[in-house]
Amino acid sequence: MKIWPYPRVIAHRCGGALAPENTLAGLTIAAQLGCRGVEFDVMLSAEGSPWLIHDETLERTSNGTGRVCDSPDATLAALDAGAWHHPAFAGERLPTLLQALATCQALGLAANIEIKPAAAFEAETGRVVSRFVRDFYVDMPEYPLLSSFSEDALRAARLEAPLQPLALLVDEIPPDWQDRCAQLGVIAVHTNSTFLSAEDARAIKAAGYALAVYTEDDPLRAAELFGWGVDSVITDRPDRVRA
Ligand code: G3P
Ligand code: MG
Repeated sequence: MKIWPYPRVIAHRCGGALAPENTLAGLTIAAQLGCRGVEFDVMLSAEGSPWLIHDETLERTSNGTGRVCDSPDATLAALDAGAWHHPAFAGERLPTLLQALATCQALGLAANIEIKPAAAFEAETGRVVSRFVRDFYVDMPEYPLLSSFSEDALRAARLEAPLQPLALLVDEIPPDWQDRCAQLGVIAVHTNSTFLSAEDARAIKAAGYALAVYTEDDPLRAAELFGWGVDSVITDRPDRVRA
């Protein structure tokens, strides 16, 4: 199994709240702020190509309409994914996974790719993203981390790439977390910072797993979480948490 560096501060959805989410502009801003890691969401188009977007539908974060899984690549490529956030970002495009990984590499950012399947596309999305990553990073020493709330997606990702580092995403730590982690072969647990207890954090670390929390924007709470052994904080305010 490969490892992943677990930078202390990971910008959420590329650049957190400081840029339109899941865009190349966000990656640039994260790097400018001194972040060494970024998290972003990946979903499949109608052709089954991987694109960076969080929602199953286009309306909130672009000028498009309808479902991502029904949208052809050519439609997604033409959308404006920046103006909704601020006019200064008008013209920003939805990135493909290829564009995002190339940009992370150019900027020296460790990538946490969240597999974000549309309903009924769990295994397919895990398979496509894992295969894509495996082929992109062939012969490279560094590797991204794949995470998902979908255990079907993680299982499919594992079948494509036996050495791929994976993380289980949960809202709250389930009582059977250790069994689930062992069965999935993940290296880490990523959980909601709001619900994490010191006891669970210490147990996860004592069992040898990496531990990341999302989405924590309060530097004092982040300091407390680091004190419990948390490796990384995924944040919408990398400027504040880094400070
Ligand atoms: O990967 C951590 C976090 O991004 C999970 O929640 O909804 O922001 O993708 P969400
Ligand atoms: Mg995410």
